[in-house]
Amino acid sequence: MVLPTDTELLKAQADLWRHSLCYLTSIALKCAVELGIPTAIYRLGGAATLSSLATELSIPQSKFPFLGRIMRFLTSSGIFTTDDSSGEGTYNLNLLSKLLVDGIVLDGDAHQKAIVLTTTSRYYMEAALGLASWLKKDTSPPVTSPFQDLHGATLFDDSMACLDPEAHELFSEALAAHDNLGISVVLQKCPELFKGIQSLTDCCGGDGTTARAIIKAFPDLKCTVLDLHPVINKISADDTIEYVAGDMFKIIPPAQAVMLKLVLHFWNNEDCVKILTQCKKAIPPREEGGKVIIIDIVVGSTSKEMLEIELLMDMLMLAVTNGQQRDENEWCEIFMKAGFSGYKIVKKLGPRGIFEVYP
Ligand SMILES: C[S@@+](CC[C@H](N)C(=O)[O-])C[C@H]1O[C@@H](n2cnc3c(N)ncnc32)[C@H](O)[C@@H]1O
Repeated sequence: MVLPTDTELLKAQADLWRHSLCYLTSIALKCAVELGIPTAIYRLGGAATLSSLATELSIPQSKFPFLGRIMRFLTSSGIFTTDDSSGEGTYNLNLLSKLLVDGIVLDGDAHQKAIVLTTTSRYYMEAALGLASWLKKDTSPPVTSPFQDLHGATLFDDSMACLDPEAHELFSEALAAHDNLGISVVLQKCPELFKGIQSLTDCCGGDGTTARAIIKAFPDLKCTVLDLHPVINKISADDTIEYVAGDMFKIIPPAQAVMLKLVLHFWNNEDCVKILTQCKKAIPPREEGGKVIIIDIVVGSTSKEMLEIELLMDMLMLAVTNGQQRDENEWCEIFMKAGFSGYKIVKKLGPRGIFEVYP
C-alpha cells in the first residue's frame, strides 16, 4: 500500500469531517425556518444587522453571539448573503432564502418552508437513520420503504393521517410546494409540449394548480385532472377543467396526451409499468398525436453539483418511499416494458427532464 502524504491524510480527515457533519446544514436551515429568520430579514427591509435580527426574533442578549455563529454558517452555506459595505455587517436574503419568506409568492403558490420542515422532521430523519438495519432485514417482496417499516404508515396516505394528522398535513403541504414550483418555467421553455394538442389529462394532477397554469397559457386545450377521491372532493368546481376522481391503476381518462408530472419517481418499476400501460390505453396512436408527457428528475447531469442533488433526491426516495429517481436508461427500460415505441427528452431543466413518450 502506498503511504499517503501528511497533506493527503489531513485532506482525507477534513473530508470525513465534512461528510459526517453536513447534516448540520439541514439542521441549521431548519432552525432558521423555525425561528422565522428569512421572514424577519424581509420585515426589516431585506437586510438586517445581527442585533436588529436578534431583537426582531426576540432572542435574549445572552444568545446573540450564538445566533451570530449560526448566521455565519448559514451565510457560508449559501442560504443568506452578507454585506459589509456600510461598515456594519448585514445579513441579506438571496433567492433561496426568499423562497422561505412568509407572504412572498414566487412562481405561483410555491412557498417552500414546508419542504425544509418535512425533510428535517423526525419521521424522515428516523427513517434515514435506520437504513443499515433496514438493509440487513430480509423481507419478501414487495419490499417496503424504511419509512413504512419504521413508522408503520405510508407517506401521503390515510395511514399517515391516522398516525399523526399534523405531520400528514405538513408533508402534504411540502408535496404541493415541491410540485407547484416550476410549471411556469416549463411553459416558458417548452411551449411546444402543449401546442397543437386538443386534449390533455393531467394524471395525478392534485389540486389542479398545474392544469390551471396550462389552461391559462393554452385556453383552447380541454384539460382533465385525475386524482384520488379525497383530493378531488376538496376542489371547488370550475368550468375550465374537468376533475375526475379515480385510480390511475384502473383507468385514466382518455385524451390526446397524458401528463405525469413528478409522479413516477414515487413508484417502483413494476408500478410505473402498470401506470404507463394505462396511459398508453388512454391516448391515440402516435400518428394522431398521441403522447405521454413526463416531467421528472433524470439522474446523470454532467455538473457535479446537479448530480449530487439528483442523487440526494434518490436517497430521499429510498428512505421514505418505494420509488426511485432514474437515469435515462432506467427511464427507457420502463417505457419499453410498457409497450411504448420511442421517446425524446425535450429539455433538461436543472435536475428535471421533460420527456415525450410515444405509443
Ligand atoms: C406527487 S403528487 C403529483 C403532483 C402533480 N402531478 C403536480 O405536479 O402538481 C402525487 C399525486 O398522486 C395522487 N395519486 C396517488 N395515487 C393515485 C392513484 N392511484 N390514482 C390517481 N392519483 C393518485 C395523489 O393523490 C397526489 O395528488
